[in-house]
Amino acid sequence: MKFSSFNGNRSVMTDKIERNVSKRIINLTRELPVQNQYTLALDNEYKHVAFNEERAPLNKGQWREKVFQTSANQPLDLEIGTGAGHFFNYQALKQPERFLVGMELKYKPLIQSIRRALKSGAKNAAICRFHAFNVEDLFDENELNNVFIHFPDPWVTPKKPRNRLVQKSNLEKLFKLQKSGSFVEFKTDSLVYFEWALEEIKNSPYKIEFCTFDLHQSEKASENFITGFETIFLKQGIKINYFLLRKSEA
Ligand SMILES: C[S@@+](CC[C@H](N)C(=O)[O-])C[C@H]1O[C@@H](n2cnc3c(N)ncnc32)[C@H](O)[C@@H]1O
Repeated sequence: MKFSSFNGNRSVMTDKIERNVSKRIINLTRELPVQNQYTLALDNEYKHVAFNEERAPLNKGQWREKVFQTSANQPLDLEIGTGAGHFFNYQALKQPERFLVGMELKYKPLIQSIRRALKSGAKNAAICRFHAFNVEDLFDENELNNVFIHFPDPWVTPKKPRNRLVQKSNLEKLFKLQKSGSFVEFKTDSLVYFEWALEEIKNSPYKIEFCTFDLHQSEKASENFITGFETIFLKQGIKINYFLLRKSEA
């Protein structure tokens, strides 16, 4: 049965199905059969700045006031897929007047990220265990400023593009969550993913402000921070693809 064929109008059923397709279910930390040092750190030592998948959505619409005890007009950025947190740490220290939320699925890099930032003295960083496809459960519309997505899993096997983070449906979600004038910064080693993502962007509300197939030979090279994965790819001689998307001022 084709739900989208009801007189060409979007039905309630179509909406429900589309929403379910893009929602991802992840395990609950408290239900893990065995806890480890990272899951325990998440819910104990770092609990004030590290949020599991159940506590994180309770901050929706309140990250500035509740988590960072700052005012509503301070910039709040998001890094999706922090890995071991080298950029997360760098960014928090580079712009201490901005606030930074990291999102990471895996426990070890999540704890490495927040530990690195706290050890460096960052007071403007928090992290959450969450699936990026569910980002609208974490932030209200217009709650976010800039978004960083560096080397997300490329999902290059033929049937897997639906798992790619940068796709039209996720771009539409991020667009709603960002304030006008904000950007999305994206880097990948995968040319397949990059070219595919450029096509997705054409059908999204974003404008491409800058795009290069070789970041390190571009005018952005000098201001670029080399992330953990980027170091590995550069050592292998792989070119880094980069784009910057902008949500135009209303
Ligand atoms: C290839 S690593 C890149 C890490 C880091 N950004 C860097 O450049 O070194 C991708 C990271 O994204 C995380 N990740 C993958 N899928 C995710 C998702 N759906 N939501 C949140 N994080 C995710 C992985 O656990 C991994 O740490």
